Amino acid sequence: MCGIIGIASNKSVSMNIINSLKKLEYRGYDSAGLATLTNESINEKKCSGRVEELEKILFKTPSEGNIGIGHVRWATHGVPNVINAHPHSSEQVSVVHNGIIENSDEIKKELEAKGIKFKSQTDTEVVTLLITEALKINKPLESVFETLKKLKGSFALGIIFKNFSNIIIGARRGSPLAVGYSKEENYIGSDSYALKSMTNKISYLDDGELCVLTKDEVNFYNKNLKKINKKILIMSEDEYSIDKGEYKHFMFKEIMEQPETVKNCIDEYVDSLKNNINILNFPIDPQKINKIVLIGCGTAYNSCITAKYWLEELTSIDVEIDIASEFRYRKLKFNSNNLYIFVSQSGETADTAAALDICKKNNVKTCSIVNVIESTIARNSDWVLPIHAGTEIGVASTKAFLGQLTVLYILCLKLAFVRQDINEKTYIKNISNLKKLPDAIKKCLAGENNVQLMAKEFITAKGSMFLGRGSSFPIALEGALKLKELSYLHAEGYPAGEMKHGPLALIEEGLPVIVIAPKDKYFEKTISNMQEVIARGGKILFITDNKKESLNENIRFGLRVPHIDNLLSPILLTLPLQMLAYHVALIKNCDVDKPRNLAKSVTVE
Ligand code: G6P
Repeated sequence: MCGIIGIASNKSVSMNIINSLKKLEYRGYDSAGLATLTNESINEKKCSGRVEELEKILFKTPSEGNIGIGHVRWATHGVPNVINAHPHSSEQVSVVHNGIIENSDEIKKELEAKGIKFKSQTDTEVVTLLITEALKINKPLESVFETLKKLKGSFALGIIFKNFSNIIIGARRGSPLAVGYSKEENYIGSDSYALKSMTNKISYLDDGELCVLTKDEVNFYNKNLKKINKKILIMSEDEYSIDKGEYKHFMFKEIMEQPETVKNCIDEYVDSLKNNINILNFPIDPQKINKIVLIGCGTAYNSCITAKYWLEELTSIDVEIDIASEFRYRKLKFNSNNLYIFVSQSGETADTAAALDICKKNNVKTCSIVNVIESTIARNSDWVLPIHAGTEIGVASTKAFLGQLTVLYILCLKLAFVRQDINEKTYIKNISNLKKLPDAIKKCLAGENNVQLMAKEFITAKGSMFLGRGSSFPIALEGALKLKELSYLHAEGYPAGEMKHGPLALIEEGLPVIVIAPKDKYFEKTISNMQEVIARGGKILFITDNKKESLNENIRFGLRVPHIDNLLSPILLTLPLQMLAYHVALIKNCDVDKPRNLAKSVTVE
């Protein structure tokens, strides 16, 4: 994880580094730091906590220098304190790093045996000290190149040098690194968004590549240190239009944007005139698909589980789902008639990217469902289906989840139709239901006041449970995940029918139990499971789309969402759960956009 930035300019860079670090905070916010070159010496400023703290330090003691690097950290090696904050500098060189150096302990021992002293507990410092050693006999680029040969793991680096005061070197292995160009100024950054206020001209380093920046030019090198050229992409304003607007938090804004983002997504894929779905160029003939394997992490994994129910319901295709960090280490049997689908908001999650690499090495066809289309996962997969949700800043995913569900549902419908698993009438009916979704989402969001009241039921709660059956089960998981992420309250998502096999023992007087019960084929069964909870004193918070169900005195709180169609109910039932997590977090005074210990883009295994 972590975010890195580097600027080579003809003017002072520290304030632009701070501004970029603020944009990168979604990648980590345990500590922050920057280093500039002033009068041929490395000038480091670091703090624990947020970029705001670093900014205060700079207001008191400004950092001059036309070349600099900056960092926001999500701690992996060593506690989040000032010493472990990046950059890590020797007298000669200063380094910012995103990712993990897997053999850092080994290298550290070797360097210590030579009498070299370490200041921090981080893996990054080995990079600083290896480059420092290499500089005794090499020029900067060769020193970095020689150092990279000794490193294992996945990382992106930004490096400045005391005696070569006009250059920044960037290197990428695994973790993303963008390069930006401007007049008399060039940049490296963990993503293009960090460079947004300075340029819209971007290139991306591929794995193993290096770059050398001065204020006037950027040179690129491949993994054999041969000079190469890179394509320059021009980013559109839309890709950058992000601010909180009238909202207090990005997360709430992103929740409220969902009618619009889901509509955009539907408009991209559905031809309303012809009542058809514009998904073409399947990497495998749809008739020949033997199995679909869906892979993701966190919220994206919950999308995969939901899609399993849809694929099973609508198509004759066999379906398997897996968590990327499990998939990548399993002994799998790959089949060229299987389609492997990777779901990821960022498109940079290390485990998901590694799982994709394994599929590629086994010559099977891959599809990615991503929000960031220039991401590693999108670029490495055979087929990309973007979710068109726009930039998501809140660390806990909301609109990207609905975007993923929408694209997955559209894909299921298309597959079902082209394989003739459903007839044209059903296909058209399902498309027309889908088009009702944005309005139904709007109606759900209008129930926010009720959700706010429901959130009060959590004031004294020590834990909670979310129950659902069928496609409401992954929504229970997602509801529990959102509550955990945002309010740090223990929450378990469970298939309602599985309660009797253990979790029922957790039910005690007053424990909030959220029962998600749309009027589908499971409804009566879910109600029976709810009764079992009531009998043991659980406090029921009930969410349904069933108009007929009267809320009785055993139900502490009830919420109704609109009903469009059973297949789409998981999407609508998600909305109160997102708002619930948000309001419980507010009551508990938690940092909604940046929950403790988390980061949005998880680029470590
Ligand atoms: C992190 C985020 C989650 C997200 C997960 C997968 O843990 O905090 O919100 O669901 O990564 O991220 P991806 O970008 O692959 O969807």
